[in-house]
Amino acid sequence: TEPPSRAIPVDRSAAHTGRRSFDHWFGEKDRNGFIHRSWMRAQGFSDEVFDGRPVIGICNTWSELTPCNAHLRRLAESVKRGVWQAGGFPLEFPVMSLGETMLRPTAMLFRNLLSMDVEESLRGNPIDGAVLLTGCDKTTPGSIMGAASVDLPTLVVTGGPMLNGKFRGCDIGSGTAVWRFTQDVNAGRMTQEDYAAAESGMSRSNGHCMTMGTASTMACMAEALGLQLTGSAAIPAVDSRRYAIAQQAGQRIVQMVEEDLKPSDILTRDAFANAVRANAAIGGSTNAVIHLLAIAGRVGVKLTLDDMDEWARGVPWLVDLQPSGKYLMEDFYYAGGLPAVLREILPLLKADAITVTGRTIGENVANAERTVDTDVIRAVGNPLGSGAGTAVLKGNLAPDGAVVKQSAASERLLQHRGKALVFSSIEEYDLAVDDMDLEVDEDTVLVLQNAGPRGYPGMPEVGNMTIPRKLAEQGVDDMVRISDARMSGTAYGTVVLHVAPEAAVGGPLALVRTGDWIELDVPGRTLHLDVSEEELAKRRADWQPATVPSDRGWAKLYVNHVTQANEGCDLDFLVGRSGSAVARQSH
Ligand code: FES
Ligand code: MG
Repeated sequence: TEPPSRAIPVDRSAAHTGRRSFDHWFGEKDRNGFIHRSWMRAQGFSDEVFDGRPVIGICNTWSELTPCNAHLRRLAESVKRGVWQAGGFPLEFPVMSLGETMLRPTAMLFRNLLSMDVEESLRGNPIDGAVLLTGCDKTTPGSIMGAASVDLPTLVVTGGPMLNGKFRGCDIGSGTAVWRFTQDVNAGRMTQEDYAAAESGMSRSNGHCMTMGTASTMACMAEALGLQLTGSAAIPAVDSRRYAIAQQAGQRIVQMVEEDLKPSDILTRDAFANAVRANAAIGGSTNAVIHLLAIAGRVGVKLTLDDMDEWARGVPWLVDLQPSGKYLMEDFYYAGGLPAVLREILPLLKADAITVTGRTIGENVANAERTVDTDVIRAVGNPLGSGAGTAVLKGNLAPDGAVVKQSAASERLLQHRGKALVFSSIEEYDLAVDDMDLEVDEDTVLVLQNAGPRGYPGMPEVGNMTIPRKLAEQGVDDMVRISDARMSGTAYGTVVLHVAPEAAVGGPLALVRTGDWIELDVPGRTLHLDVSEEELAKRRADWQPATVPSDRGWAKLYVNHVTQANEGCDLDFLVGRSGSAVARQSH
């Protein structure tokens, strides 16, 4: 016979707590309450978990197909410890994961799908507050976008970078080394054997890319926006201090639920100004521009490319990390990480912006340790450059804007006039890149069309087109390249990206022809196609939109609703906040 039940009956007379998990799920007295509790009991939880304590959803982008996030289940255990410690009830759940190196045609195509997964999972479940476990490029912005739309108290815990890559006694950086070594192999400067040997030394621990690529940039953006605990962004994935701070995050999210400190309280226009300035100081990824625009759209903060250009101007570039500079994320952490940078640029920040700590960003970093390695993190008086952040260009070739990362560009090409060599797809370029008869010289401007959000679809990271073999062998290592694509945060060069409107919707980029003159003036912020209005009008009349092969499923929905790069590439119907209320019962 069954042993007598020792269960303590739930106090069904408890008044409403104002806590959604209790009022609408676990505290219900009727049949639905039975259902909500009974099935949770199958996991062996004792009665106390239903007493109205904050339920913390741990939203996990773990996946073995996203190697950068492969350790996040272990990290979740640390968050759970903290939640239990603080009297909360942690429940971990999976959401779609996006692995930058695996997913085709590009992880960016699915960022908004991940955001929808996060949004609906948080809203539809008995959750009072969320911890977002992220790492690889798109997992951080995608998760934040979804959580921002629901607007429950939310705290981000990124997975941390890999240890520095090692090859033949040197440090090598994720992605950046791949671009460089591939160019070296093409130019005959590196053997296939060495190329193969570099592979295993580059990625030698758990974690995301350890250059200042998009993943490290977005981890820093999460911290600068005020969404992750001070000092979190740079801790290596395998450093025990990452696990300790994850436990603290678990404790803090329970308090945040008590305080009702929500993303809409944190993600103000000031928070975005801080993020943009921090991005200029760290030499961060161009992809941050698109992701910040999309996040702002979710919380109803009006943010434009012009704001971002203005905010980044004059910010000293302080962090000497690849791909713009020399060092890697381990060095950055040991030198003081983001708090040391934010302390340096504090006079340029909106110091009163509130953060997940419950304090302002100014209070968080006022007493941060100063940089302990002034080679890696420069002092404000000795920057690597000034106003080297992502610049926004406008002109008849990009009426709605384009971007270029100044710190990753060549000084000599920042003002350049050259003849266009146009490719209508990246595949067409791939066929031409090794052609020794290609009509190209170092002043040529390589133009790539149809790689934008709708055209590809998904706006892949192909904007940093490999230098044509003919020129690479002559030692040419940079050229002006212009496209409606993105580039990897780990890439470098004088690469003009995110041209809007894109070619596939009939933007002027679609009208450029080989032999046209193009003028780039980064200090003047212009991108000009030197072709008369009459001629452009003629070409426009002849222009035929390419058919996009997306007749079903997600790609169809995406192509029909994605906004342009200057608006963040969100789906038009996802912009805005929808809150956490669910009107109807499931049974
Ligand atoms: Fe995942 Fe770079 S590939 S962070
Ligand atoms: Mg990337």
